This record gives sequence, structure tokens and C-alpha cells, in this order.
Amino acid sequence: MERAVSACDRCGLCRTRMHPAFGEGDRHAAILLVGEGPGREEDLQGRPFVGPAGQLLDRMLAAVDLRREQVYITNIVKCRPPNNRNPEDAEAHACLPFLRRQFLLIQPKIIVCLGAVAARHLCDPSVRITRDRGKWWVKNGVRILPTYHPAALLRDEQKKRDAWLDFQSLREVYQQLT
Ligand code: URA
Repeated sequence: MERAVSACDRCGLCRTRMHPAFGEGDRHAAILLVGEGPGREEDLQGRPFVGPAGQLLDRMLAAVDLRREQVYITNIVKCRPPNNRNPEDAEAHACLPFLRRQFLLIQPKIIVCLGAVAARHLCDPSVRITRDRGKWWVKNGVRILPTYHPAALLRDEQKKRDAWLDFQSLREVYQQLT
């Protein structure tokens, strides 16, 4: 599938990307984290969440005793949207079949939506992240938690407290399920 993503031209992002960031981590992880799309550093390295937001994500995971290698991390779109704009719906829909296949292979028990873009595609289009973060969804037996995108926490420190509560809740549910 990684090769298919590297060769993918289903949307216009293929024209401006350097390297798709397919996803990485434990292919049998109980927790799948889904962001929005690669940023500059991710595009250079072809890996998800390796820039400043990714470093914060690593620290948040560590705070609940999780290492990056224990979870699986990917994005709604695998190629960088120019200037880090949000992915358009058409781009997301073109790319979602890859995420669906990742989901089927990994069979996670928990999905964490990092930010509104992921939550709108994976929970419901009406999600508002400030209102709906921290509320668990269950879809086909899979628990889904929307929380802030780590980049939002870098822009607004005040959101960190709520994100911390969400990660505590993640740890509790993870411990119950494993
Ligand atoms: N932001 C995202 O949504 N995904 C990444 O991989 C990096 C930054």
C-alpha cells in the first residue's frame, strides 16, 4: 500500500508534495492516531508528525506512558497541502480509501482524532472541536476520541489543560481495553 501511496495521483496534492507521509508505528496497535495532513518537515522526511507538533505529540503520549512505537500514527491526507492549508473535502475523499485500508489492517480498538479535520471525517461533519473534544464516540465497536490538534496547543497554551484531560481519558479507556 505504501508504494500505491507514493505513486498516487488521485488528487492535486501529488503535484506539490515531496514525500507522502504514509503512517508509522505498530501495525497491530490498539490506538490509531489520525491527524490532518503532513506539514513541511513531514513532507521532507515522508513521516507523520515529526515537526514541532509531532514533538509535542510525543511528549503527550509519554505523559500517559505511551511511546510512539506502541501506537500507529497517520493522517487524513498523506500528502502535504500547500502552505499547510486544511485539506479540501475532495482531497480527503480521494485519500480516505488508504486510511480505511490501514484501519482494516491495524484493527485498532481506539481512534484518536487530532483536530477538527480528522474528527469531521471520522466522527461527524458537524463536529466542533472546542465543543466536542473529549467526548467519546463508538462506531462499529471502535471507540473514537476527538481532541485538539497538537499544533493548536502550540498556538494556544490555554488549550493544553483540556488536551491533558483528553489524554488521561485515553489512558483510562486504553487500560480497560488491554
Ligand atoms: N500535522 C498533521 O496534521 N499531521 C502531521 O503529520 C504533522 C502535522
